[in-house]
Amino acid sequence: MQGLAIIKPSSKLQLSSFILVAAAIMLLGLAGVAHGGGRRRLVVSGSEDEPCKKMTVYYHDILYSGNNTANATSAAVTKPAAALSTSHWKNGTYFGKLVVFDDLVTEEQALSSEPVARAQGFYFYDRKERYNAWLAFSLVFNSTAYTGTLNLLGADLMAEKTRDISVVGGTGDFFMSRGVATLSLNAYEGTVYFRLKMDIKLYECYV
Ligand SMILES: *[C@@H]1O[C@H](CO)[C@@H](O)[C@H](O)[C@H]1NC(C)=O
Ligand SMILES: *[C@@H]1O[C@H](CO)[C@@H](O)[C@H](O)[C@H]1NC(C)=O
Ligand SMILES: *[C@@H]1O[C@H](CO)[C@@H](O)[C@H](O)[C@H]1NC(C)=O
Ligand SMILES: *[C@@H]1O[C@H](CO)[C@@H](O)[C@H](O)[C@H]1NC(C)=O
Repeated sequence: MQGLAIIKPSSKLQLSSFILVAAAIMLLGLAGVAHGGGRRRLVVSGSEDEPCKKMTVYYHDILYSGNNTANATSAAVTKPAAALSTSHWKNGTYFGKLVVFDDLVTEEQALSSEPVARAQGFYFYDRKERYNAWLAFSLVFNSTAYTGTLNLLGADLMAEKTRDISVVGGTGDFFMSRGVATLSLNAYEGTVYFRLKMDIKLYECYV
């Protein structure tokens, strides 16, 4: 309320300067960006139900297990501290384990289907009591459909059936994009492979 009161125009003079500032902000937004000779314009979604762009993709994590060198696309770079990761649950929660990945991302579920991007980044397990992780990565697009990156990060609250992480920015075809990605576990094979479904909705796009 206090914040609103500060910008609430209380006289005619203030009202007109308020409108000028608002108009200047809009013009800046509409000026767009030069890209490949073209000019793009910022589109901001006016409603949660109407993202300016959305896509569903599948993320495939094949963890290196000692004998899958040709196939693996991710590797643990730290070992969980055994005493900590088993302190609450004897089977272990991987607390302290960090995994770096360069994973395949496809439009269809199957690992063998057409790739649309690579997911390059890391996750780490960050709770002693149960499985829980934190993710940060770029989706790197290099196809006829898209080139550029989308940058995603946030808490991967594994106890939830679906969890939202932030799309904090982008480059190329995703210049300055922001939004939310909803993740859910879609399949897994022991500790070697898992597949996440990612529903990505952007609420700020340059088009
Ligand atoms: C790797 O080792 C596991 C168990 O140690 C075995 O089940 C699996 O078949 C092996 N995979 C390959 C590709 O050799
Ligand atoms: C712990 O792991 C063992 C062996 O993999 C399994 O049989 C057991 O169900 C697990 N315990 C819990 C609580 O999940
Ligand atoms: C993108 O694809 C082109 C054509 O296949 C290739 O030459 C280029 O190295 C790729 N770039 C990246 C970053 O993978
Ligand atoms: C690679 O790993 C995936 C996931 O575990 C598995 O389905 C696939 O058969 C493996 N491919 C090869 C060539 O080992």
